[in-house]
Amino acid sequence: MDDFVCTLKAGAVTRVRFTDMKGLSEHLSSISSALFVADENSSYAIPENLSDRCLVLSSGEEHKNYDSLFKIIRKALGLKLSRSSRFVGVGGGVVSDMTAFASSVYMRGAKLTIVPSTLLSMVDASLGGKSAIDFDGVKNLVGTFYPADDVIIVPALLKTLPEGEFLSGLGEVIKHAFLTKDKSLYHFLLENKDGIMARDEETLGKMVELSLKVKKEYIEKDPEEKLGIRSALNLGHTFAHALESITNYEVKHGIAVAWGLEMALAMGVEMAVTPADLKESADGLLSLYGYDTSLRIEKDKVPIFRSYKEKDKKRDSSGVQFITLSGWGRYVKVVPDDNLIAKLVAKV
Ligand SMILES: NC(=O)c1ccc[n+]([C@@H]2O[C@H](COP(=O)([O-])OP(=O)(O)OC[C@H]3O[C@@H](n4cnc5c(N)ncnc54)[C@H](O)[C@@H]3O)[C@@H](O)[C@H]2O)c1
Repeated sequence: MDDFVCTLKAGAVTRVRFTDMKGLSEHLSSISSALFVADENSSYAIPENLSDRCLVLSSGEEHKNYDSLFKIIRKALGLKLSRSSRFVGVGGGVVSDMTAFASSVYMRGAKLTIVPSTLLSMVDASLGGKSAIDFDGVKNLVGTFYPADDVIIVPALLKTLPEGEFLSGLGEVIKHAFLTKDKSLYHFLLENKDGIMARDEETLGKMVELSLKVKKEYIEKDPEEKLGIRSALNLGHTFAHALESITNYEVKHGIAVAWGLEMALAMGVEMAVTPADLKESADGLLSLYGYDTSLRIEKDKVPIFRSYKEKDKKRDSSGVQFITLSGWGRYVKVVPDDNLIAKLVAKV
């Protein structure tokens, strides 16, 4: 595992470092003026001697709200933190998004470290600077772009992660494997299933590094998602968001993304954009890791599926744009017609 840096804009550099539990403990203990934010499942990663500077929030997306944000800011104020102090988010994407948001607005911007503790937050939420809370039922409605200068990856933290959360993160990793012309991540996933599923630290560290480097390729070219490049990372997400909504979020995000990847490539093949052998490579990898790509929606639910799809952010005047691939790492935006979507997602 090699440390690396990601440059988002002049003066905003994220240093990504890999370490073990001992290294993490030493690093956190060395920060002189800091607030540590975790949730009840990730707080074990913070050394006990730092407990008076630690805020432990309730876990879950339902707590990604202004109540939690205010708790973070009040705790920072109670600790008399200044702009030169550091907010350290130790947790999954919910904790890191909220800690980043609080850090971005506290005294107009304090320092930020993210220690992601889920696979999804290691390969996705930790890098790229998006911070947010949900508001009035709308996910990530209120937020900022505020990259951490420091991201610490500790693969050992994944040992305690429930299997469903692990597979959810792995869905995003598989998506990244097809978003790059360099097939290293794809081959790594094909060849290291046993080590990955056994959560071997070294293997996971390498996988996270390869996956993060794919995200880095896109966000460095389009840090604030204004050029249409970074949005390629949304491959599979329009299908995924509709599936998550229709199942009332019972299907976890990354598992919905894995299904969405399959749907997006099937759509590309139908539209004569995606080569069939690329879709076959994705089918093979998804089934190797046990993702159910055969899932289809009851016919009478397709109109509801369409309405959720319409609510998705990726819309222009011609309709809802979907991302698909015309080759390894070559993304294309398409606007499929509703009959094609129904044909792909509905049970026959
Ligand atoms: N900022 C971004 O670019 C970005 C990207 C993707 C997702 N997100 C956000 O991330 C969130 C989803 O992240 P997530 O999947 O990590 O969810 P999460 O933070 O809710 O974590 C999932 C569950 O795992 C638990 N957990 C965390 N670390 C653990 C550990 N080491 N051992 C055992 N349990 C642990 C949590 O308490 C929680 O119950 C969403 O709010 C999403 O909007 C942000």
